[in-house]
Amino acid sequence: MLILLWCPAAGAAPANYCLECHPPHYQEQGSCAACHRGNHQTRRKELAHSGLIAGRYAGFTNPLAPELRVGKKLAEQSACRRCHILAKTGNRLASSLDGLLWNSTPEAIRAAVSAPAVFMPDFHFSAPDLDRLITAILAGGLQAGKPQKEQPQLVFFATDAKQGQNVFVKQCGACHKLMSKRDGGLGIGTSAPNLSGLLSSHYPASFETGKRWDAERLKRWLKNPRAIRPQTQMRPVTLKPDEWQELLRIVAVD
Ligand code: HEC
Ligand code: HEC
Ligand code: HEC
Ligand code: HEC
Repeated sequence: MLILLWCPAAGAAPANYCLECHPPHYQEQGSCAACHRGNHQTRRKELAHSGLIAGRYAGFTNPLAPELRVGKKLAEQSACRRCHILAKTGNRLASSLDGLLWNSTPEAIRAAVSAPAVFMPDFHFSAPDLDRLITAILAGGLQAGKPQKEQPQLVFFATDAKQGQNVFVKQCGACHKLMSKRDGGLGIGTSAPNLSGLLSSHYPASFETGKRWDAERLKRWLKNPRAIRPQTQMRPVTLKPDEWQELLRIVAVD
């Protein structure tokens, strides 16, 4: 005969003090921390809420959440992946967004996107779109999993000397900016698109409707932009063969 022994110590989970202030919900889908983080072992609200993921982002754990679907679409349209890794895919020209779920907060992500770094474009998202985008970034972190070790910080030593010498700075940088793998951020222009990751699959397919850029198409573009886009403001740029080769190296993402 089988005897089942009940052992009270084994079943006693630590108290969840969240429930002293909040009614439970979605209990069958996990602990409060699974969706909201925070610290359930304290009664003090400030401590309990440290690192809290607010309700409006908490859909990041639910692949079917409509706000998550919209957020993913926004990230796709804005081509965040031409510079960042998001959900394990993208170029490594800037830091990976997959670590942010684990080592940042939604508020810090919001601040970074609303007041972007010098070489990151300003996307001017509406507040609700920013919520959805943050939800997608958190979901990407969940998909990628907690980083095994600290990710090395990307540090670029963009010296004035480099800024002076290179073909991008001289021939394109007055109007364009570019994150380059070798030299970090180049150019000062804000009047024309940020060209980071131009020849990668993560750059918008803006050559002609639905067509990606490649070296051959870029060459045609530089020779005569109006032949591709009749209304364009950009004038032809003539490069010497060695300058062209240098440009290709600078634009490369790996
Ligand atoms: C001492 C009471 C107290 C405890 C403990 C507490 N909360 Fe709260 N919580 C509040 C109050 C009050 C608010 C309303 C907003 C505010 O005052 O910050 C709130 C707001 C929230 C919100 C809504 C925030 C938003 O903007 O969507 C979430 C989510 C939340 N709490 C989750 C948690 C979780 C998870 C825990 C446990 C880890 C927890 N809370 C522990 C009192 C508490
Ligand atoms: C499966 C994910 C999930 C779990 C688990 C979860 N929540 Fe939430 N929570 C959400 C979502 C999503 C929202 C946004 C509103 C909604 O969908 O109900 C939310 C909203 C909230 C809010 C804000 C409500 C409001 O009206 O603004 C509070 C407070 C909250 N949750 C507390 C908790 C507490 C406490 C627990 C643990 C008992 C918990 N949640 C567990 C996903 C979750
Ligand atoms: C042209 C390149 C580029 C594009 C495109 C771009 N970013 Fe960035 N982003 C950067 C750079 C450069 C930084 C600052 C340095 C770093 O974090 O690597 C940055 C920083 C960030 C940070 C702060 C990261 C941290 O570690 O705190 C977030 C969040 C972010 N970007 C989100 C986005 C999102 C979301 C998109 C798409 C809507 C996007 N970025 C598109 C270049 C870019
Ligand atoms: C005097 C300013 C200026 C210079 C210099 C310049 N461009 Fe442009 N470029 C523009 C403008 C403005 C646009 C936007 C054209 C449009 O939307 O039709 C553009 C668009 C582009 C595009 C299309 C991007 C897209 O997604 O639509 C590419 C590629 C490009 N430039 C590459 C270059 C390269 C490479 C150089 C340097 C060899 C360069 N440009 C130099 C002003 C300039």
